[in-house]
Amino acid sequence: MLLITGGLGYIGSHFTVIALQSGYEVMVLDNLSNSHAGVKDKVEQITQKELHFIEGDIRDEGLLDSIFKRFTIEAVVHFAGLKAVAESVAKPILYYDNNVSGSLNLLKAMQNNKVNKIIFSSSATVYGEPKYLPYDERHPTNPINPYGYTKLHVEHVLRDVCASNEAFSAITLRYFNPIGAHPSGLIGENPKDIPNNLMPYIIKVANSELPYLQVFGDDYETRDGTGERDYINVMDLVEGHLAAIEYLANTGFHVFNLGTGMGTTVLELVSAFEAANDILIERKIKPRRKGDLAKFWAKVDLAKKELNWEAKTSLLESCQLIRQF
Ligand SMILES: NC(=O)c1ccc[n+]([C@@H]2O[C@H](COP(=O)([O-])OP(=O)(O)OC[C@H]3O[C@@H](n4cnc5c(N)ncnc54)[C@H](O)[C@@H]3O)[C@@H](O)[C@H]2O)c1
Repeated sequence: MLLITGGLGYIGSHFTVIALQSGYEVMVLDNLSNSHAGVKDKVEQITQKELHFIEGDIRDEGLLDSIFKRFTIEAVVHFAGLKAVAESVAKPILYYDNNVSGSLNLLKAMQNNKVNKIIFSSSATVYGEPKYLPYDERHPTNPINPYGYTKLHVEHVLRDVCASNEAFSAITLRYFNPIGAHPSGLIGENPKDIPNNLMPYIIKVANSELPYLQVFGDDYETRDGTGERDYINVMDLVEGHLAAIEYLANTGFHVFNLGTGMGTTVLELVSAFEAANDILIERKIKPRRKGDLAKFWAKVDLAKKELNWEAKTSLLESCQLIRQF
């Protein structure tokens, strides 16, 4: 059985669907801090399978220990975490506690119960100011905000655990910018607060829940002056995790970028969304946001070579699928 932490969240729910469809038995642990219990029903509706779900927190040592004792967990897929960069600047202790202490707690429970395989959701944020582009996995890591540091800290712990225990396998997946939704339209990105990421923001404007899109900065050194990112479809992203589960047979610490290898500016993404949905997105140019990088995208050769995985979905397709959600 796989233990999926944060399995009712945006990426975790999409992974849970394909894990169930691929025949894995899964147990989801989620404290619902950024998701809804109703997602469990949606996952069951899509897969026509029962989903085992425990509402709880990765910082709860007793709970984790009891899960590992009660169920035969072969590997952990660890999505649970807080992910809003600006909030991490305002509330660093909350972020270190949730993301770092929570992960340490999980690793302690794994160690106590001899579970030796984990896939960890890391982020391109760990790279920081680009020394060169595209970022490859050897690019120096130098996060520019507490969120990025929480991810890097956990990566370091995993590296050190692997060095101390030759039976341990840890795969760190550094996501670029996930977008899109499951083709059923039943699950997607549905943050509880005002979205921090661009795509859910665009969707809220399209649905008239927000009056206009704020574009932070149009004077960057990019094709049209707006920030450039590597947008990866969420279904492609979670397929990468399935490949990573097989790769856990290789012990040691492994890092892979999961992106498309292509940069897209804010205005290009807005245009793709408008074209895919025949809609106009009201926007206003605002000053640059402190801490935003001008541009970055992934080098994806390593995941292609080692995991035999690459992103397939076009930007336009990602925008179409979203609209159904
Ligand atoms: N979405 C992105 O842009 C992005 C990019 C890079 C990395 N990541 C990482 O991927 C992971 C999943 O991201 P997401 O976009 O699905 O976010 P999300 O907020 O939708 O999902 C995270 C899930 O974890 C749960 N959770 C949070 N803290 C928990 C805790 N202490 N105990 C139990 N459950 C907890 C939340 O309720 C939520 O369901 C996160 O670790 C995030 O940092 C996301």
